[in-house]
Amino acid sequence: MEKIIIAIDGYSSCGKSTFAKAVAAKLGYIFIDTGAMYRAVTLYAMRGGMVEDRERLVAALPEVRIEFRFDPAAGRSDVYLNGENVETEIRRIDVSERVSTVSSIPEVRAKLVAMQQEMGRAKGVVMDGRDIGTVVFPGAELKIFMTADPEVRAERRYRELTAKGERVSMEEIERNIRERDRQDETRAVSPLRRAADAVVLDNSRMTVAEQMAWIDRQLERFA
Ligand code: DC
Repeated sequence: MEKIIIAIDGYSSCGKSTFAKAVAAKLGYIFIDTGAMYRAVTLYAMRGGMVEDRERLVAALPEVRIEFRFDPAAGRSDVYLNGENVETEIRRIDVSERVSTVSSIPEVRAKLVAMQQEMGRAKGVVMDGRDIGTVVFPGAELKIFMTADPEVRAERRYRELTAKGERVSMEEIERNIRERDRQDETRAVSPLRRAADAVVLDNSRMTVAEQMAWIDRQLERFA
């Protein structure tokens, strides 16, 4: 099979990363979690007290270096912010609460989109995010739009965060998911939208194995 670009977009906490990672592993492709890049910039802004100071953040953007480094022991790629591994820190709920603000800044998006396009230049990538099929790679060979019922998503997020020892309530998570959906869908630059040529995957009642069987059917046309 010729190397292709697989663009996976969709709502927060509907299992995009888990699915994208499994698809990349199956095909020997590189997995790129673009949400981690927006989260890393958000963390940078939080540390510098710049979340609400757009001008200062935009001026500081040339200083923000984001990269993925593969950790062979863990078998995964971690995101680094100016040389520091921030993989754990960027998943905290206080970062989740601010990431929509930072990711709505056009200059932030321009910088990250350019990086993402460079990462996918040689194809053979599975990239997950909100605007991959619409903005980053409008010509991606396979576009998937993922969705799941909000209650299912909240439940998954709750299990993920509490497993990491974070003390959060279900209400807090539901509120954050609703608010991020709203902000992702209504922001002026690159709002979350299903590309006209994307196939929809609603995994509310699907196991990972069922999702893998689904992707096999989608990949048949590239064989
Ligand atoms: O996928 P995630 O929940 O980790 O993404 C974090 C936030 O980053 C999400 O609320 C919206 C933003 N994001 C974006 O605007 N564009 C992307 N391609 C990926 C994420």
